[in-house]
Amino acid sequence: MSSRVVQWTTGNVGMRSVVAIVANPLLELVGCYAWSPDKVGRDVGELCGIDPVGVLATDDIDALLALRPDCVVYNPKWPAVEEMAQILEAGINIVATAAFITGHALGEDGRRRIQEACVSGGASIFGSGMNPGFANLLALVSAGICDRVDSITMLESVDSTGYDSPETEIPIGFGRPIDDPELPTMVASATAVFGDAVRLTADALGLELDEVRCDAEFAQTTTDLDLGSWSIAAGCVAGVAANWQGVHQGRSVVQLKVMWRKGQTLEPNWKVQHGYIVDVQGSPNVHTKLTIAPPADFVAHSMKDYMVLGMIITALPAINAIPAVCAAAPGIVTYMDLPLITARGFVQTG
Ligand SMILES: NC(=O)c1ccc[n+]([C@@H]2O[C@H](COP(=O)([O-])OP(=O)(O)OC[C@H]3O[C@@H](n4cnc5c(N)ncnc54)[C@H](OP(=O)(O)O)[C@@H]3O)[C@@H](O)[C@H]2O)c1
Repeated sequence: MSSRVVQWTTGNVGMRSVVAIVANPLLELVGCYAWSPDKVGRDVGELCGIDPVGVLATDDIDALLALRPDCVVYNPKWPAVEEMAQILEAGINIVATAAFITGHALGEDGRRRIQEACVSGGASIFGSGMNPGFANLLALVSAGICDRVDSITMLESVDSTGYDSPETEIPIGFGRPIDDPELPTMVASATAVFGDAVRLTADALGLELDEVRCDAEFAQTTTDLDLGSWSIAAGCVAGVAANWQGVHQGRSVVQLKVMWRKGQTLEPNWKVQHGYIVDVQGSPNVHTKLTIAPPADFVAHSMKDYMVLGMIITALPAINAIPAVCAAAPGIVTYMDLPLITARGFVQTG
């Protein structure tokens, strides 16, 4: 039995979702939502750089819901509470990469609206991605061999020069003058979903948190940076390091850190570790590094092409969870509620 899937938008991540859905015999692409008017009526395969798939993108949400898919793969730039609630109320499950983990980042009203829609439609929503998402699962798995956990730290340390999504990066502070006093508030607001990942990690460890807070540091570019679709002026932010912390009894026990840098003219010149690193302090100390590398047959014409790998690892934690999310009890589900997620259907045979 395959799951019938509707894809929601075909941006950076959505394109890789489509490529994966089409490649997996356990999934069937039955529809696709287009936000951009110029994508409406076009074949989804063509929009995603693969052969035509015989499914046309549409902006008719009612028509997509009428297809009664098992699941929507929700990859828009921003999560829209009413849009998600409409899908869930129609009894359609959602797997999302659009800033959704536990729903707390949507605010109390937004989270309640999603919960009620799940109950009313008998549907589930699961949010993941690389980070937040898979990186948090990696941390929990890493701590699973310890008989004492003092702290658990997750770090995403990457050069994001090739990631082309200025509308999601400018609200974090990229491109703002380095001395802008609003920067810490901007980061805390625009990366609030990382706080949800801290909550999830603490919850999975049975830890009640007194506080979830965000600290941040910034680095500037010393020359103008041309990023293709946008630019960052000299003296403005081209590096953001945020540290989301879960505080238990006055101690920062769970930490989720990100360090993103752009270009080669950063001051201070932060070194990135090119990967996802888990550090569990306890007995024993556990250090796990997830390194992403291209396969032997990967063709890259520029550094930007390597960003495809980043989009694959963002899309696939959600895609691979589709069968489990469809089988889950209605509600907001997390890794705590799902069985082991694997790359079923993607193993190359022959
Ligand atoms: N957890 C993780 O590891 C992780 C990593 C990267 C990204 N993400 C998240 O995944 C989501 C998709 O990222 P992305 O890089 O693919 O985004 P993106 O390419 O910038 O945008 C995705 C799509 O959103 C639609 N869109 C454009 N402007 C919009 C607007 N103003 N309002 C609503 N929709 C709009 C477009 O749909 P059409 O294609 O129909 O025109 C666009 O292609 C984002 O929420 C991002 O924050 C998560």
